Amino acid sequence: TWSMEEVLEEQIAKIKAQVGDKAHAICALSGGVDSAVAATLVHKAMGDRLHCCFVDNGLLRFNEQERVMTLFKEKLHLPVTCVDASERTLAKLKGVSDPEKKRKVIGAAFIEEFKSFKKVVESSTGCIPTFLVQGTLYPDVIESCPPPGSNQKHSHTIKSHHNVGGLPKDLGFELVEPLRELFKDEVRALGAIMHVPVDFLKRHPFPGPGLAVRVLGDVTADGAMETLRQVDEIYINMLRAEGLYDKIWQAFAVFLPIRSVGVQGDCRTHSHVVALRAITSSDGMTADWYHFEPKFLQEVSTRICNQVKNVNRVCYDITSKPPSTIEWE
Ligand code: XMP
Repeated sequence: TWSMEEVLEEQIAKIKAQVGDKAHAICALSGGVDSAVAATLVHKAMGDRLHCCFVDNGLLRFNEQERVMTLFKEKLHLPVTCVDASERTLAKLKGVSDPEKKRKVIGAAFIEEFKSFKKVVESSTGCIPTFLVQGTLYPDVIESCPPPGSNQKHSHTIKSHHNVGGLPKDLGFELVEPLRELFKDEVRALGAIMHVPVDFLKRHPFPGPGLAVRVLGDVTADGAMETLRQVDEIYINMLRAEGLYDKIWQAFAVFLPIRSVGVQGDCRTHSHVVALRAITSSDGMTADWYHFEPKFLQEVSTRICNQVKNVNRVCYDITSKPPSTIEWE
């Protein structure tokens, strides 16, 4: 069996052989583990002929842009540009409330941003980048080529997953996919020997369309994103503090487009309702809801209603997948 050090050396040699010593490459970092590990690996092989971008679509979690940019620059030393596309993307999402339409708008907006970044790279280097780095894993390879005749019963057929970095083939790049033969655990192990922080490697999956699929209805509705960010941050911090984060596959909050009546400090309120979700799963295809201690649920609900203006009700989602999906949209 191969050690991760050997996999690392082998992959660096492979990338060098593939790209040669002149070509430039682009990588869109999503903020997730796979693209970060792929870029770190390719950076070792190509140095600053790799050009990474991180597109902030305005749909990220609390302080996410700052957190990942610090990681990319200061810990991983990646050559990365932050593209602030939040105003442009949110403007395109105004009034859009159909979940599939939202995904399409966000996917298309991302492609536009990516193309502009490519132009910037061309003018700053005087070269046309010919390679595209993607963090495709072995399970992604299998999923995208189901065996002939198989009835592919899969979430991709239920929701169109626009992964950040899921770019159309006609952009004319040759792909560099150094993680194609690896499973998630192996990617984490590979990241660890390249000094990617363990906390980052263990992060829950986060969908490409970001918080847009967690604000039901119009994402640009007044204060919705801000409220969701605050609720999510309180919830995730409490999971970490209680040592529960690593026991859960994915946990997040959902903003519901309704108000309910409550009483806060002797006053009647008519405020927002949020839902919390936490699931266990082995692959995201099926999932069970996580059985929290009642004490945890009580505490998290209290903190959210005390700290987040405009929220007076917290619900916990006790549905498995199926019949529900993991995300609410
Ligand atoms: P669902 O909601 O389909 O989610 O049960 C399964 C897993 O996929 C993630 N997910 C997405 N990821 N783009 C993504 O990159 C998407 O449009 C998308 N929709 C869902 C979800 O967070 C879960 O991990």
